[in-house]
Amino acid sequence: MPLLRVLKKIKNKLTGFNPSERKLKEIYDIFAKSPEGGWIIGWKEAKKIYHLIKVRDAKNALELGTGIGAAAAIMALAVEDSGKVTTIEQKKECLEIAKKLIPDNLQQKISFHLSEPCTFTSPILKQGERISGYKNLPVERGPFDFVLVDGPGSFWENGQMNHHPNGDLFNLISHIKLGGIVFVDNRKVALALYLKYLDQYFRPGGSWKNYCILEKIT
Ligand SMILES: C[S@@+](CC[C@H](N)C(=O)[O-])C[C@H]1O[C@@H](n2cnc3c(N)ncnc32)[C@H](O)[C@@H]1O
Repeated sequence: MPLLRVLKKIKNKLTGFNPSERKLKEIYDIFAKSPEGGWIIGWKEAKKIYHLIKVRDAKNALELGTGIGAAAAIMALAVEDSGKVTTIEQKKECLEIAKKLIPDNLQQKISFHLSEPCTFTSPILKQGERISGYKNLPVERGPFDFVLVDGPGSFWENGQMNHHPNGDLFNLISHIKLGGIVFVDNRKVALALYLKYLDQYFRPGGSWKNYCILEKIT
């Protein structure tokens, strides 16, 4: 191995990051250090999302659950200059914070969407079973080759807190490209539902402590 590469490797080992990861950490810290940063995506998950988008050369990413914008910024950093990110959120105040925190050069690639969450059913589900998701999915921005499922959070409906899992994937089937990746963050109930009902469309692509990956197969 040439000496320069060896030295670079040693330097990366010592600092803990290679140059692209250093940039990634710099962006991540904008959100992690923000006073509203309590619910942001984990650092390990952020790194995995970044590398998956790079390795898969994903160009059109969708995020369900913007929060204050950490993953949206990371996805925008990962897609090439011609790539785009669509992100959807139920809380107006979160979107406002995201628009303040995400650096301008990344924000240019992001389209922000506000939507209430709602409960619905699907012909794929057993009769009577209901799930929840966003009322207005911006499917016109598809087909997507990377989808992050990280919302909606719980919401109030008819005086009760709604804890149904994230059902948007049921409505996104025909809007995700063949070979597209779905990254499910920390949503075990939702994952069980996807594996039970959507196995003809998505196959498991790996499972870690706090997240798992599905791949679109038909
Ligand atoms: C796990 S968070 C989404 C995190 C986001 N994907 C990210 O990359 O950081 C899920 C939901 O929590 C809510 N949420 C996140 N941060 C919040 C905050 N600081 N204040 C109020 N609600 C928040 C939002 O409605 C969001 O969609």
